[in-house]
Amino acid sequence: MHTTTVTKKQPIGIFDSGIGGTSIWKEIHALLPNEETIYLSDSFNAPYGQQSKEKILELSIKNTEFLVAQNCKLIVVACNTATTNAISYLRANYSIPFIGIEPAIKPASILTKSKKIGILATKGTLNSELFEKTSSNIDKEVQIIEQVGEGLVELIENNKIDSQEMHELLTSYLAPMVQEEVDCLVLGCTHYPYLIPKIKEIIGNNIQIIDSGEAVAKQTKKVLLQRDLLNDSLATTPSNFFYINNNKTTLENILKDYPSVVIEERFF
Ligand code: DGL
Repeated sequence: MHTTTVTKKQPIGIFDSGIGGTSIWKEIHALLPNEETIYLSDSFNAPYGQQSKEKILELSIKNTEFLVAQNCKLIVVACNTATTNAISYLRANYSIPFIGIEPAIKPASILTKSKKIGILATKGTLNSELFEKTSSNIDKEVQIIEQVGEGLVELIENNKIDSQEMHELLTSYLAPMVQEEVDCLVLGCTHYPYLIPKIKEIIGNNIQIIDSGEAVAKQTKKVLLQRDLLNDSLATTPSNFFYINNNKTTLENILKDYPSVVIEERFF
């Protein structure tokens, strides 16, 4: 077990295989504006979703080691693929708290009236033991239609959200769900909230889109409060660092409404 002493002023660490976890960072920053943050975008190794469980674990440990060395008081695994494959190992081996993100199929199973829900996620998430366990614990009458979002992360990482290629790929994944009459669509990857306008063009407004970003921010606040680690000092503008081990153009674009953040291309 790696143990560390933590105090309120230390930053929150956040990592993802790429820029998708910024959808979680935005929720955390909105809810906890006093907190300093360090975000790792492991874009060099993206996508995680097509890699083996062992490789996902190895990359998650590498990211954690970097954030622990930066003195983070808590780590948010802002990646469904890394959470479902590695969070139990991380929790067992590091003393700081970890917050993870999992596809919200449980809330969707409660909301659905048609008793059919769709889920779009990576292969790594859908094949994980944790996902298997969560999906076997929902109402047996609810049918889950699973779809691997192969290729979507790569297009998002390469600034191609508005491309024809994206539209065609999304249509091929979502049209069958519309035909099956799902009434909830769970986004099981932190990159996908950036596709919501595109998804709506295909599925319309009658299918509810469910993602877990806000819930993760609330859970982060709850855990910080429980451990007396919430940064209550209002003294200075908190610093928000983003490290990316690839070209930073797409990340800069996605964070253009946050001019005070620092974005650096850096090896980790
Ligand atoms: N953003 C990630 C997730 O939530 C990872 C996608 C990937 O790298 O395949 O699953």
